[in-house]
Amino acid sequence: LFPWDRVAALGNPAAGPAALADAAPAAPFAHAMPVPRVLRPVRRTHTADHYRMHMREADVEIVKGLTSRVRTYEGTFPGPTIRARSGREVVIRQTNDLDVPTAVHLHGGHVLSEHDGLPMDTIAPGDSRLYRYPNTQRASSLWYHDHAHHLEAENVFKGLHGQYLLTDREERRLPLPRGRYDVPLVIRDARVESDGTLKYTRPSDCPNMLVNGKERPYFQVAARKYRLRLYNACANRYFRLRLADGSEFTQIGSDGGLLAEPVRQTELTMLGGERIDVVVDFSRYPVGSSVVLENTGALPTERPEVLRFDVVREARDRSRVPDRLSELPPMPNGTVEREFVLQTFPEMTINGVTYDPNRADVVTTVGSSEVWTIRNIESAVAPPDFHVWHSFHTHLVMFRVLERNGGPVGPTDVGLKDTVTLGPGEEVKIAMTWGEYAGEYLFHCHQLGHSSGGQMGRIDVRAR
Ligand code: C2O
Ligand code: CU
Repeated sequence: LFPWDRVAALGNPAAGPAALADAAPAAPFAHAMPVPRVLRPVRRTHTADHYRMHMREADVEIVKGLTSRVRTYEGTFPGPTIRARSGREVVIRQTNDLDVPTAVHLHGGHVLSEHDGLPMDTIAPGDSRLYRYPNTQRASSLWYHDHAHHLEAENVFKGLHGQYLLTDREERRLPLPRGRYDVPLVIRDARVESDGTLKYTRPSDCPNMLVNGKERPYFQVAARKYRLRLYNACANRYFRLRLADGSEFTQIGSDGGLLAEPVRQTELTMLGGERIDVVVDFSRYPVGSSVVLENTGALPTERPEVLRFDVVREARDRSRVPDRLSELPPMPNGTVEREFVLQTFPEMTINGVTYDPNRADVVTTVGSSEVWTIRNIESAVAPPDFHVWHSFHTHLVMFRVLERNGGPVGPTDVGLKDTVTLGPGEEVKIAMTWGEYAGEYLFHCHQLGHSSGGQMGRIDVRAR
């Protein structure tokens, strides 16, 4: 039994392994990988870019030859990319043309509570709502996705997620790959039935691996450096990503933007919600050759391939990765300590309780520097062989990971984070400073099957 099975199955009692036979066999590398289109503002003022988006159903081809009905922002799967600049506000009018309530959350965004897309703060079918994003934060690869209570996992699985790339002057001054050589790779699982139906089910029944909305595509690249912004947009699953030839690449950023300095990596473990920004140099491969990005965390019943890079041409490359990338804000030196225990039995809880929108689980103040200890320790009523991963996420702030299991942090705990992974039995310490807005926010597990089940808490940030 795969450790995730029982947990995901709690939300999906009808699913079972026998159903796997109905999944569409995936022809690997049958699609060219699309790059999500960049959405154009409908209006620009001196200080803001205004956008309009409709959430609606659309028919798309995920597996070659099949038509799948999905839930989209603006008809695209995944949603279109918003390109924002630090210091310029983005205002989006979101209209819900679906038949389910939705709430749009900018993941990693520093926004006022009323624009945060809280679980109960939903847009009813037929209604619309204005979200304001001030972009007063540093450059980072953010994303927007659904957050309607109990529905977020299914809504995101069915397509309600998109990229939000925020840039700033510090980032633009660096000689990193840019333009067509700066590409988001939105990686997620899916289950597409042989009739094309995209079916929300547990992760062990989701054999289709998608990049930018297509099943195991190929991407034609030039023999030069690319900046690849990796997203784990899965509702319920982790990846362990590597290039099949084991070669190194350079991590330059994480959830909260550029690292202080680049880090050499060969394998990346990513849980739902996390972003990792890497530079891969394809000039080491001869034109005409290919290299596969694979997920060594795939199930034995699944193919490990995620994406094939085909090196098809030479190209000039003036980009490089400097030894110093950015200045991180000073490490918060917290005096307030809090503890959180994530469990899945008998319910999806944090500190023994499920989410209640009417109960504040943490009350803090703007400017409070805190150290949070987060533990993944299963309760005594869990089956003895039960192991599950969690992905702890905070709204409003970026944090730093101080410790993992009492020792040094893991290879992908570097930089500013808004989501941190917790393997079975693991404990992490994180530090953050609450600011700059007062209001109601959230912390939760970003395994969306867990947050949908209640593994989420409310934090009230009070003005000083
Ligand atoms: Cu991406 Cu509250 O989450
Ligand atoms: Cu969880």
